[in-house]
Amino acid sequence: MSETPVVTLDGPGGAGKGTISRLIAERLGWHLLDSGALYRLTALAALRHGVALDDAAGLAELARNLDVAFLAEGETTRVLLEGDDVSRAIRTEQAGDAASQVAAVPAVREALLKRQRDFLQPPGLVADGRDMGTVVFPEAPLKVFLTATAEERARRRYLQLQEGGVDASLSSLLKEIQARDARDMQRSVAPLKPADDAIMLDTTRLTIPEVVDRLTEWLTERGLASAT
Ligand code: DC
Repeated sequence: MSETPVVTLDGPGGAGKGTISRLIAERLGWHLLDSGALYRLTALAALRHGVALDDAAGLAELARNLDVAFLAEGETTRVLLEGDDVSRAIRTEQAGDAASQVAAVPAVREALLKRQRDFLQPPGLVADGRDMGTVVFPEAPLKVFLTATAEERARRRYLQLQEGGVDASLSSLLKEIQARDARDMQRSVAPLKPADDAIMLDTTRLTIPEVVDRLTEWLTERGLASAT
């Protein structure tokens, strides 16, 4: 088992994991694993190479050989697939939906397991996903499960898309979020659920700084961060 500490943030899409994980990783000076990006990249690779989203063997092969790079650039991370910048392409609703489908394939999850564990490097790791605390890093000293109502998550996604100049309908976003939640929670392997020892945090009525403060408190209590 690794001596390097890891904090896991699991929960449904739109609960704030991405933003909070990035801020906590910055604050601690730790590495960041955006595991959803790996599923999104596998899905994008499948679409590019004409591999069907229900072809388990073909998808696992793609996941095993995924040629990706994460390049930190100030506040953002540039994501490359086979040398091409796909930072925007992996964030579309289409890529998210396809990711949720490939993520339900057990052989894909198995193929991505080691790649995710390899992110655990000193001085520490903040791991963002659905099964970080239950499957990938079960030994994590701090596990947090972030939630928010589906309506609030749809509203956040709507505002995010609007900011990026993308037109969207709030009601169709809500439907997509509910469909993705159902698929992520009902799959047989590593379904979306809190680890037994995870702390639950409902972010529906919390601001981002409030969530960061709460996590910082828990990190400090465990000796993983200083109080200042
Ligand atoms: O967090 P995200 O929206 O980028 O994740 C995209 C999809 O990938 C999501 O629908 C579920 C899946 N996923 C997963 O199954 N396990 C993870 N650890 C992360 C994401």
